Amino acid sequence: MSNFVVEIQSLSIWSESALIVDDLSVSLALGKPVTILGETGSGKSILAQAIMGVIPKGLESKGSVRVYGKDVNDQAYIESLWGKKVAMLPQEPWLSLDPIMPVEKQIGLVETLVSNHEKEHAKTRVERQLTKLGIHRDGDKVPAQLSGGMAQRAAYLCATAAGGEILIADEPTKGLDRDRAQQVTQLLKQHGDNKALLTITHDINVAKAIGGEVIVMRHGVIVERGESNEILSQPQSEYAQQLLDAHQAHYHVKSKHLEHSHLEQSEKKPTKALIKATNLSKRRGGKQLFSDLGFTISSGEIVGISGDSGAGKSTLADILLGLTRADSGQVWRDSSLVKGKALKLYQDPPAAFPSSLTLGKNLLDLCRLHGLDQSRVPSLLTQLKLSEALLERKPAQVSGGELQRFAMLRALMMQPKLIVADEPTSRLDPLVGYNTMNLFLEQVSQLGCATVLISHDISMLHQVCTRVVHIGELANDDCVFNSIEGTQASSAVS
Ligand SMILES: Nc1ncnc2c1ncn2[C@@H]1O[C@H](COP(=O)(O)OP(=O)(O)OP(=O)(O)O)[C@@H](O)[C@H]1O
Ligand SMILES: [Mg+2]
Repeated sequence: MSNFVVEIQSLSIWSESALIVDDLSVSLALGKPVTILGETGSGKSILAQAIMGVIPKGLESKGSVRVYGKDVNDQAYIESLWGKKVAMLPQEPWLSLDPIMPVEKQIGLVETLVSNHEKEHAKTRVERQLTKLGIHRDGDKVPAQLSGGMAQRAAYLCATAAGGEILIADEPTKGLDRDRAQQVTQLLKQHGDNKALLTITHDINVAKAIGGEVIVMRHGVIVERGESNEILSQPQSEYAQQLLDAHQAHYHVKSKHLEHSHLEQSEKKPTKALIKATNLSKRRGGKQLFSDLGFTISSGEIVGISGDSGAGKSTLADILLGLTRADSGQVWRDSSLVKGKALKLYQDPPAAFPSSLTLGKNLLDLCRLHGLDQSRVPSLLTQLKLSEALLERKPAQVSGGELQRFAMLRALMMQPKLIVADEPTSRLDPLVGYNTMNLFLEQVSQLGCATVLISHDISMLHQVCTRVVHIGELANDDCVFNSIEGTQASSAVS
């Protein structure tokens, strides 16, 4: 009898137009975590779905996936294991949460219905878990009232509350600040130390911390596999080497270029203020997110917003765009920021796309509505390393990273004057992420578009931004910019 609780043998998965997973074999044993790193779109999430017995409709497969020795093609069998023995944390937290139920109730239901805990006992356990992940004050909220990182943690608790032996975690730390990411990684590691764990991640630090076996994937095949400390310190394949190099890459060159072009631009024609924020304060969920915040954003400028998960970064961005109101303070917006010229790149790409339209139809509608030049589409697709075949598919039929880059393409097509990019490369591997960020910065620089860049990656922000606004606890001791610039306090524009 084998030691493996999951055995994937010669698995291939393909669509009408492409091979997605090519003759892949992977096994999972108790106490031997496996971590998959790899290129965006390389078939990682599809593999995770195959283990859960839910290969998306329209895709075909051959080979075998066995869980506890039995083939997952037996739908009733694998379903009987869901939650109780096998749990999955999918890549998009919103897809695993009930949108209209408070999250503490959702986790409580797993405790009572799946784990059969008494109601009172379940309640105590839920409180303890919410506290552990720092979201105890937010348990009564529905998912839409949570930040991306909070929803990610709530989804993690839902997936793991029943203590299933096999855990498949797809990008479990995206959207989390460093401390929260470390907490979740520790929880995963504890799980992997004696149970079965398959983690899919773009975060090399997560792979390092979890240990065990690391598999590097590209184009549906394994390019390298082995003990984590060996692969992560001395990769043999060129691709794994590039991936690790990109993880440590710095944006020096680009930032200098940007500062330079920014200076040149300001020497030639003075930049124009597009947003002036004065004395902004906002409370949410019993927490003062920020107070007395003031700054100006001018054309061509890149302003960073950093802060812990749930600190209010996206809320501040929404206030700047007029999507949410501040409790006090004012935001003046230049009259050139008409509809379609001030845009937001959402933190969770699926939130920005209608699920029933193909990406091509969505883009065509946009071009028609705004009279956009469609001839730019092919070159943007190429630069963003997106295949034209994606245009035929709906948002759920492309990978998380592909959808994130498509959202960027759509925003750039609009030639905006202001763009708020909320964690714009969070779904991308380090290599594609680095290249995509550089491309994005080049494009906004060419457009002279003002950019608000929201990220947990403080070092990246300091490299590419002209200024960084820190909000939340960091703001007191590490405040680069938290004062009013631009002296005229102007009237609020809704
Ligand atoms: N339903 C579908 N029909 C056709 N192709 C699909 C479908 N779902 C996904 N794909 C394609 O399969 C490939 C692998 O997708 P998958 O989601 O597994 O990538 P991934 O490695 O998880 O990427 P990421 O790191 O961006 O999340 C992608 O090119 C994607 O466009
Ligand atoms: Mg994926």
